[in-house]
Amino acid sequence: MLLRRLQLRNHRNYAHLDLSMKPGVNVFIGANGQGKTNLLEAVAMLALSASPRARREVELVGPVAAASRIEAVIEASGRRMELTIALNVEGDRAHRTIEVDGARRRAFDLPGHFRVTLFWPDDLGLIKAGPDQRRRFLNQLLVQVEPGYARSLSSLRRILEQRNSLLKRIAAGEEASEQLEVWNAELVRTGTEVVNARAKAVHELAPEAARCHAEIGGGERLEIEYLGPPEDLAAAVHNSLAEDLRRGATSVGPHRDDLRVLLDGRDARGYGSQGQQRTAVVCLKLAEAELVTRRTGERPVLLLDDVLSELDLERRSALLRHVATGGQVVITSVDAGPFPPDLIAAATVWSVEAGEVKPCG
Ligand SMILES: Nc1ncnc2c1ncn2[C@@H]1O[C@H](COP(=O)(O)OP(=O)(O)OP(=O)(O)O)[C@@H](O)[C@H]1O
Ligand SMILES: [Mg+2]
Repeated sequence: MLLRRLQLRNHRNYAHLDLSMKPGVNVFIGANGQGKTNLLEAVAMLALSASPRARREVELVGPVAAASRIEAVIEASGRRMELTIALNVEGDRAHRTIEVDGARRRAFDLPGHFRVTLFWPDDLGLIKAGPDQRRRFLNQLLVQVEPGYARSLSSLRRILEQRNSLLKRIAAGEEASEQLEVWNAELVRTGTEVVNARAKAVHELAPEAARCHAEIGGGERLEIEYLGPPEDLAAAVHNSLAEDLRRGATSVGPHRDDLRVLLDGRDARGYGSQGQQRTAVVCLKLAEAELVTRRTGERPVLLLDDVLSELDLERRSALLRHVATGGQVVITSVDAGPFPPDLIAAATVWSVEAGEVKPCG
């Protein structure tokens, strides 16, 4: 997977950008607030179709006009492709148009053309925040590599909505409890699809994450464990009926899943230091990239935003050496200090200043 050219028009603080990206390591250096994260966000949108951070799409549109545009030339499986995401502001909303090689596509048809693995500081929530962020990590990974997963996931959401509203009506005496049977069966069937995909993915991720951590971590052992619903999901759903009726919500199923992250056998959330937690998250992301590579036959573009801060010298250079051996990497930093001289010499270095990017050195 290769990003050849990126053009931005009125995307956040970029009025106009036309960048020819190079294979290998691309380093973007700039002070705070100059546009490093905005650049990575635009690249990530080409893979995910939506911004992973903007709460409202109008946030993405810069001050120059009521419209913005992200255009890219990518290479996937040896084929050149042009991807475009255009936003047009209408009132307080933005209308999004997506094109692949000039033909209109729906938003959910874009992922799969271009794949990235993104690390940015928000991802530290994978350890620090609640289980929903860890489920999102598994979901975002699986929609990229597991055909049918996105559909199972959206069915699961619909089943839970229907089942929960039925539970409330049964509790209010408006419906008979036999009505639940069909939704229980659906929950077990679709839930099992989701659980199997997640369990398999974590099974593949775990050794990759451990290997990566052994290479760049400070000697602790990284383990990840999938915490899914009870093995006999049908029995568990059946047994939770009284509790479900009382709560008006479904208490067992993959919507309650979690991922345990352990460092030397202890919960990374409670015991890990800042730098140890960051190292663990980075390794989960690099393991994700390995899994995507193995499943699709092609290495995703690695997007690493401000990955080096909080890491000691040894971890920084081990991490940089690890990523430099792979495919295309885009990495941001506030200064060139943390980069080993030989890596900087081999990399393409850009400077980012007030929404402008220039070759450096
Ligand atoms: N819609 C928008 N229009 C114009 N400017 C915007 C818009 N959204 C964000 N910005 C500005 O873009 C600038 C650059 O943001 P960005 O997050 O890319 O900085 P950064 O280089 O990653 O900085 P840091 O090192 O602090 O992470 C910020 O000053 C921000 O206010
Ligand atoms: Mg930033």
